[in-house]
Amino acid sequence: MTLKRILAVGAMFALAGAALAQTAQAPAATPTEPAAAATAPAAVPAPGAEVTPTAEAAVAVAAALPADGPAVPGNAQAGESKAAACAACHSADGNSADPQYPKLAGQHERYIARQLALYKSGERDNAIMLGFAATLSSQDMRDIGAYFAQQAVTPGVADESLIAEGPNAGRKFYAVGEKLYRSGDAARGIPACAACHGPTGSGVPGPTWPALHAQHAQYTAVQLRAFRDGAVWGKDANANAIMAGVARNLTDEEIDSLASYMQGLHNVIDAPPAKTAAR
Ligand code: HEC
Ligand code: HEC
Repeated sequence: MTLKRILAVGAMFALAGAALAQTAQAPAATPTEPAAAATAPAAVPAPGAEVTPTAEAAVAVAAALPADGPAVPGNAQAGESKAAACAACHSADGNSADPQYPKLAGQHERYIARQLALYKSGERDNAIMLGFAATLSSQDMRDIGAYFAQQAVTPGVADESLIAEGPNAGRKFYAVGEKLYRSGDAARGIPACAACHGPTGSGVPGPTWPALHAQHAQYTAVQLRAFRDGAVWGKDANANAIMAGVARNLTDEEIDSLASYMQGLHNVIDAPPAKTAAR
């Protein structure tokens, strides 16, 4: 997959996202040649991903998601000093060492700004982040977002160990999640994650669609369980209930496997050759 194609797919997602509120149609992008694999060497050739988002998920897309405020685009240089307070948990370059804290490196500026605004307003409930977001202005949030967006995310690794028991016994641990990520499970109303987050987990720039690649599996699994329990970040017109619909029917095994797969997801094009070859 070329960079041009990735950009085109991204634009398609963005357009589809904009159209969702009116049409209740889910993004129709069908990534046919995912450029990323779990870092495990034996990743199977990508099946043509079938994109079947649930109607509920599609309807839930909020139109404008205004929570990241009227600030002008962020200034990464200004953001670097404002982000000093974040380093203790997220690391100075946004590649947190402790897997309970999400990596912010490579995350989209406006997604970061929006989440900070949601913590500040209490619409995303987290006591720690409320404290750190409370003193930030909308412009601070954009600047910090711009800074972390410019940092390169360090690659992660998916868990290849074999599943010992249950219906998936004998499969690699990440493989259950890989299949869901690429193809979903239409019969159970689970959409392909790639439809919105992209085949390499890079998301779409803007406030709405986060990048997921190389994120710590521990953090991701916690978020997916919260979404499964119905968590919606944002209220009223600012609510973004998509993931509550997406995650509703995921089992624990699927959540942990998805989280592992996403930890290993990376954008092959962005990876330096040495690292690609190393795995
Ligand atoms: C004491 C540790 C700590 C510090 C310091 C901290 N954070 Fe966090 N941060 C967390 C935790 C824990 C979470 C996950 C919270 C949750 O589950 O919602 C988080 C989540 C986030 C998220 C959401 C990421 C996502 O993918 O949705 C953003 C954005 C963020 N922090 C930005 C910041 C910024 C900016 C600062 C500095 C101004 C900061 N954090 C300081 C602990 C911290
Ligand atoms: C219809 C579009 C769509 C689909 C399909 C979708 N997502 Fe999401 N996802 C979103 C949106 C929008 C958000 C941001 C939610 C918010 O801001 O509250 C999100 C957020 C997330 C987050 C939180 C990221 C963070 O940094 O905290 C995770 C994890 C996630 N999605 C995983 C998945 C997985 C796994 C699947 C497939 C089973 C999936 N998504 C399918 C739209 C989608």
